[in-house]
Amino acid sequence: TEQVKTIVVIFGATGDLAKRKLFPSIYNLYSKGQLSEKFAVVGIGRRELSQEEFQTNVVKSVGTDNAYTREFSQHFYYHPFDVTNRNSYVDLKGQLVQLDEEYQVEGNRIFYLAMAPEFFGEIAQHLKREGLTNTSGYSRLIIEKPFGHNLPSAQLLNEQISQAFTEDQIYRIDHYLGKEMVQNIEVIRFANAIFEPLWNNRYIANIQITSSEVLGVEDRGGYYEKSGALRDMVQNHMLQMVSLLAMEPPIKLTTDEIRSEKIKVLRAMRPVKETEVHEYFVRGQYSSGEINGERVIGYREENNVSEKSTTETYVAGKILIDNFRWANVPFYIRTGKRMKEKSTKIVVQFKDIPMNLYYNNSEQHLNPNLLVIHIQPMEGITLSLNAKRQGKKIGIAPVKLDYCNNCEDVLNTPEAYEKLLYDCVRGDATNFTHWNEVALSWQFVDPISRIWENDEVTSISTYPAGTMGPDEANVLLAKDDFHWWSLS
Ligand code: BG6
Repeated sequence: TEQVKTIVVIFGATGDLAKRKLFPSIYNLYSKGQLSEKFAVVGIGRRELSQEEFQTNVVKSVGTDNAYTREFSQHFYYHPFDVTNRNSYVDLKGQLVQLDEEYQVEGNRIFYLAMAPEFFGEIAQHLKREGLTNTSGYSRLIIEKPFGHNLPSAQLLNEQISQAFTEDQIYRIDHYLGKEMVQNIEVIRFANAIFEPLWNNRYIANIQITSSEVLGVEDRGGYYEKSGALRDMVQNHMLQMVSLLAMEPPIKLTTDEIRSEKIKVLRAMRPVKETEVHEYFVRGQYSSGEINGERVIGYREENNVSEKSTTETYVAGKILIDNFRWANVPFYIRTGKRMKEKSTKIVVQFKDIPMNLYYNNSEQHLNPNLLVIHIQPMEGITLSLNAKRQGKKIGIAPVKLDYCNNCEDVLNTPEAYEKLLYDCVRGDATNFTHWNEVALSWQFVDPISRIWENDEVTSISTYPAGTMGPDEANVLLAKDDFHWWSLS
C-alpha cells in the first residue's frame, strides 16, 4: 500500500456527512495503514466546539472507544469559522503552516467542502485570495453535490471555483463512482470476451437501471423540495451509470481517456424536447403507505414540505443514445424514495434469438437472456439462461448463474467514501466527475425540470409508499413492448 501524507480541511465538520461517512472512512484508511502518521484533519464549523469535544465526536462516529481510536482522534483539530470572514482564513492559514511542520505533510492540502452549497464559490475564492492554496505540495478541492441546480448555476459555481483551482485540482464527488460494483461495470465489460462482442444494438434489446430506496426524505425536506429526484439522483448517479454502461472501451485506463469516453456518451444522449417530456419521462410522489409492516406518511406530510408540493420523489425515464453502438436501444432508468426495497441494479436484456425452436410445445415460453449487475445491497452478477428441463424430452427452464461479490458480509466492501478519499490523496481523479460531464448532465435534465416546474399541480401522479412507483412507469416500457424486470 502506498502511504500518503496530507492535511484534510473539512468544511462542515459538525455536519451529518462528516459524522456518518468522512470520519469513519478516514479511520478505515488509517487502520489499514493507507494513511501514514503524517496526516491531520482540520474540522471547520460555525459553532464553538472545544478540541476535546471534537475529538470525542470523531471517536463516537468511528464507533469504538479505545486507546487506538483515541490516538487516531488526536490527529483531528477543530477550528470555529465564519466562511464569509477574511480573518477566519488568515487564522486557518497560520494553523495549516504549523500543522504542516508538525506532521511533515510536505505542503499537501485537501479542502473538502461538505456543507451548504451556497458557500462553495465564496470559500474557494477566499482560499485563493488569502494564500491557502499556495503551498509547496498539492492543493486539491473536493466538492460535494449539489453542483448547481441547473446548467447556468453550475456554470457560475464552476467559474467561481475555477478562479482558485484548476480542473485537475477539482474532485467532484459522485459517491456512486466509489461503489465497488459500479467500478466493476468497466471490468465486466472490458475484461470478458463473452460480453463486449454482444454489447451493442445488434444483441441488446434494452438496459434497465433501477435505484430504489425505502427511506423517505427524512429531515432533508428543505433541500429536497428544491431538488427532487431528478436533480438529486438522475442528473448525477443515474447518468453516471448510463455513461459507464454505454461508453466505448478507452484506449488506456487513464483518467483522461476514461472521462473522454464517458463524455462522448453524454454528448450522444438524445436531448428530450420540452414538448416530448411526457413521452420519455415519468414522475411520481409518494403518498402514505406501508413498508415492511410499518405505516409511513406521504411526502406532502413530511417536515418542511409544502402541502401542495409537486416535487417528484420518483423518476422513470427512457434515454436514447444516438451513436452507432446504441441506436434504438432504450436505456430505462428509475429511482425513487419510499419504494418497496433498497436496491440498485442494472439489467441488460438481450434480444430474442432469431427463432424459437421450442414454441411448438404450448407451455414453452423463452425468457430472454438477462445479465444483472447487482450494485447494492447485494453485490454480484447474475446471468439468466435457458436450459433443458430435467427429465422432459423438450422442455425449457430458466437457470441462473450467480456470482456473488459480497453475499454474506456487507461490511467487507470498503465504503465508497473511503475509496474516493484515498483516490483523491493519491491524485487519481478517474472516479470523480469532470466539469464537462456535469455540464452535459445538466443540459440533459434541464428541459425536463423546466416542464415539471411549470406543470399544473394535478399532473404529478402519486404512488403509495412501499410500491415500485406509479403505473405510468410501466406504461413507459409497455409502449416499447418491454417491462421492468424485478429480479432478486
Ligand atoms: C444521495 C442523495 O446523493 O444519494 C440521497 O442525495 C440518496 O437522497 C442517496 O438517498 C442514495 O445513496 P445510496 O448510496 O444510499 O444509494
